[in-house]
Amino acid sequence: MSTERSKWSSRSAFVLAAIGSAVGLGNAWRFPGLAAKHGGGAFLLVYLIAMLVMGVPLLMMEIAIGRKMKQGAAGSMRGLNKKLEPIGWAAVANAFVISVYYAAVFAWVLLMVVKSIDFAGMTGDTVAASQLWLTTIKTTGAVSGIGVLPLSLLAAFLVAWGSIYYCIRNGAASVSKVVKYTVFIPVVLLLVMAVNGLRMPGAMDGVAKFFIPDFSVLGNAAIWVDAVGQVFFSLSIMMAVMFAYGSFLERDSNIAVDGLIIAFSDMAISVLAGVVMFSTMGGVGMLDKISTSGIATAFIVYPQAIVTLTNIGWVNVIFGMVFYLCLATLAVDSAFSLVEGVSTSISDKFKLDHKKTTLNISIIMAAMGLIFLTGAGLAWLDIVDNFTNQFNMIIIGILECVAIGWFFKTERVLDEINLNSQKWKMPGWWFNTSVRFAAPVLLVFLLVWNVISLIKAGGVYGAADGYPLWANIVGGWLITILVFASGYIVKLIAAARARKGLVEDESSWS
Ligand code: PHE
Repeated sequence: MSTERSKWSSRSAFVLAAIGSAVGLGNAWRFPGLAAKHGGGAFLLVYLIAMLVMGVPLLMMEIAIGRKMKQGAAGSMRGLNKKLEPIGWAAVANAFVISVYYAAVFAWVLLMVVKSIDFAGMTGDTVAASQLWLTTIKTTGAVSGIGVLPLSLLAAFLVAWGSIYYCIRNGAASVSKVVKYTVFIPVVLLLVMAVNGLRMPGAMDGVAKFFIPDFSVLGNAAIWVDAVGQVFFSLSIMMAVMFAYGSFLERDSNIAVDGLIIAFSDMAISVLAGVVMFSTMGGVGMLDKISTSGIATAFIVYPQAIVTLTNIGWVNVIFGMVFYLCLATLAVDSAFSLVEGVSTSISDKFKLDHKKTTLNISIIMAAMGLIFLTGAGLAWLDIVDNFTNQFNMIIIGILECVAIGWFFKTERVLDEINLNSQKWKMPGWWFNTSVRFAAPVLLVFLLVWNVISLIKAGGVYGAADGYPLWANIVGGWLITILVFASGYIVKLIAAARARKGLVEDESSWS
């Protein structure tokens, strides 16, 4: 039977946990990498706009609905209207897929903490440094090149899953204790690295590139797709997490203010990571290489910066270890929030014990994640990451906005957001315009644009990297279909369970 719903121990516990979820690897490599790809400052500007138009209102919306319904994403959407439940499951299913590969990236980070020892013999040798990670994970770069599964990586992966499970084994209550450390340690480390980066000669060129916009690229749709995707990914919205975290909130919490705190802290930490990256790259004279965005940035470009930091090998070793440890602490609370989002929806729906559900789900996710540790892992991760972010997340965004903006009343959600706010309230014009018009219109445009680009590329993502069509179908389209079919699959299971006595939750908004 389901037990008493767990609760945050305090207001700051919730805010910290939400910040912990939001601030993750996305801030440290994805954000600066994308900024570089789009000419630095211009991306920052577009990102800021996307954050205000979509990030802030949609974040508050998810938290508010979660708190009101006291259910994970799926149950929350069901509470608004039974027909909307599949949208919630799509978010849960997409979060499931992301957790499977996010844990693999987490394992790479952990392995790099240990592998930093190799920096001792690489002083000044940027070529060797750029190869370190690739040779460590023994990637073949091809989807069918399974190669070997390095034991050290497997060990790191087990440590990653062990720490994820350890953090959430007791639900929200245990999360509160962990986030106190996982939120502050990385910020302190990033500050140290920023100061270190800024004192290098040439650092200012990097900083200028990061902050001064090049307006000529604003007309390019790609910059908007990347900015919106990054806002969703970075705030952990459209992925069931914020519904679940909202559902552990007390009625007296102030969502309007907390939402702003969460969104702006996340943005501030992204900007801080951007300063670290751009100043360090400027300092070591590698600004032109910075545009290798995505996962490669943290694992290929950062090591090059690290070995050129000082002439003393062991100093670089310590710097590298601290840096990757910092990434690991950023990763852990994001990873466990994903698992928590999935497990909350499932245990709510089927009235299962939350703790056991979390354990079982973690085991299933870990087993599925083994593929990403093989030689073919990097290629598969690239494909899956592309489809979950560029398509699934955008579609879920459209569905959520249309469902809530047009099939439910935004005013009721707004009242819930502003329930306890006195000094600062989320303005109705901002919330309504965003949820009903601006966000869905922009998202539909981006989706169409994405689909057209894919068709132009012959339907194959990553053809230049040698990814074949069949891999796109398995790692992309099939997953997308399953994500959006998940709600109907759950319905069948629920019907079967109902015959064995499961009573579905019928709570509704009013
Ligand atoms: N927001 C996290 C980051 O920026 C990633 C994440 C996505 C976490 C979705 C939870 C849910 O790295």
